[in-house]
Amino acid sequence: MIKLLSHLSYVEITSPDVEASVKFYEEHVGLTVVDRIDGSVYLRCWGDYYAYSLVVSPGPQPSLVTMAWRTSSPEALEEAAARVEAAGVQGEWIEDLHAIGRAYRFTGPWGHSMTLHWNVTRHQAPGHVASIYPDRPEKRSKVAGAPRQLDHVTIATSDVDAFAQWYNDVLGFRIMARTVLDEAPISIFSVLTTNEKSHDLGVVLDGSTAAGRVNHYAFWVDTYEELLIAADTLMENGVPIEYGPSIHGIGEQTFLYYREPSTLRIELNTGGYRNYVPDWQPNTWKPSLGSNNFYRNGAMPMSMTESFPPADGPSATEEGVPDEIKEALFNPYAVQGRG
Ligand SMILES: [Fe+2]
Repeated sequence: MIKLLSHLSYVEITSPDVEASVKFYEEHVGLTVVDRIDGSVYLRCWGDYYAYSLVVSPGPQPSLVTMAWRTSSPEALEEAAARVEAAGVQGEWIEDLHAIGRAYRFTGPWGHSMTLHWNVTRHQAPGHVASIYPDRPEKRSKVAGAPRQLDHVTIATSDVDAFAQWYNDVLGFRIMARTVLDEAPISIFSVLTTNEKSHDLGVVLDGSTAAGRVNHYAFWVDTYEELLIAADTLMENGVPIEYGPSIHGIGEQTFLYYREPSTLRIELNTGGYRNYVPDWQPNTWKPSLGSNNFYRNGAMPMSMTESFPPADGPSATEEGVPDEIKEALFNPYAVQGRG
């Protein structure tokens, strides 16, 4: 298979209060509004190379509309679409996606919309924010801890391993690592990538019966110091931090999670390994090894298992899952002393 995909290019989300979300992205995250079209607001980080990396659209609940990857070439886009359809999924071609044009959009077997495109519009900074440095799309943001660019998206699904295998088989995502519970052979997390990062697509177990949910998406800051400054600034401005700063065992990125006004979860991250091995074989972690928290000294809050939109049906917190598995699922660091 030729290399099909290059990197995550944008995510589109919904918010019940688009203006409240946009204000938050501008003031607390440091993003810039670039376009407003039909109720949707297009935003970008200062270091994003293309026109936008985040679209906030109106919707009754926070949710993922689509996650977009740029392909490696025009031919790769055709090949990717053909492979999706050969796998039994019928997508559609879109000819006029804003600042992109032609794109292929499909809904995967677990209900997640993915948009693939080759065409882009490169960002042209207005004069007052044009950088003196040729490689920078724009001046560094003046908002403390503002991310340079979009980093990854993490979805929720009822079958982590099957999801990872489908996206590996069909689109060539490398599977980099997975986490299996200490207590039972249940896969709760996996990371997939189209490039040298540990992941641009994360996969968490969804204990509900809902399809197509998202757990969070993430922006990148250049340094650990910037992430700490962002944490400090968020706290001083009344934005609660949900989890972190700390370091993931898998991927070894420093992380920080908080919520935007729709309640959707945002992550800031930095650091982590680079992996260029084309035939990498994914290792299996256990929560007791610190897969989520390298230091194994900070319990993940239960709230981190909430995905979006909120599920109506029974979740793994409610029924069908033995108590010891629930404990490990929702408080994996409780198991660290057992192994
Ligand atoms: Fe993440």
